[in-house]
Amino acid sequence: MSLKAGMVPIYTAEDIDKMVSTLAKEIEKDYEGKEIVLICPLKGSVTFAADLCRKIKLPQIVDFIWVTSPKGESCQVIKDISVNIQNRHVIIVEEIIDAGRTLSFIKSRILASHPASLKVVSLLDKPSRRELPVKPDYVGATIEDRFVIGYGMDSEEIGRNYRDIFNFAQ
Ligand code: IMP
Ligand code: MG
Repeated sequence: MSLKAGMVPIYTAEDIDKMVSTLAKEIEKDYEGKEIVLICPLKGSVTFAADLCRKIKLPQIVDFIWVTSPKGESCQVIKDISVNIQNRHVIIVEEIIDAGRTLSFIKSRILASHPASLKVVSLLDKPSRRELPVKPDYVGATIEDRFVIGYGMDSEEIGRNYRDIFNFAQ
């Protein structure tokens, strides 16, 4: 039986598409006339980033960073960014912010390369779980303290390919 059986989506693919379109419009408006660099932390943000970048009609560069953030340990870079972001307008594209440890680490890493500006877009935000004071500039939806899978988000690799976003009973 599929893990999806009996699970009710909290956001359907249609809901997600609307959220992504709204975020893309906000970003287009704020960065009109500029080139942007979208930095996607692997692996969870790949699906969101792929949809978002195609809806943003601005000149853009897409790049990736891969950071692990094991509980109780410091973050480690597995793959660093590979474009020069100095004096460029950088936007970190997160699928979800939880404790904020990953984002806080990635923000420091990016700021060390002196971008012209730095903002964060996150499809989902779980502010009640925050351990570090980081806030996304653009948010698709704020959710309660629950673990979700789908649309790139996984539980031990399960759920990444689901088109909807589901609560995951742990
Ligand atoms: P943070 O460092 O605690 O903010 O963790 C952020 C990262 O943990 C996200 O970018 C996701 O990769 C993962 N994560 C946090 N919450 C969830 C969830 O509910 N489902 C799937 N992955 C999550
Ligand atoms: Mg992530």
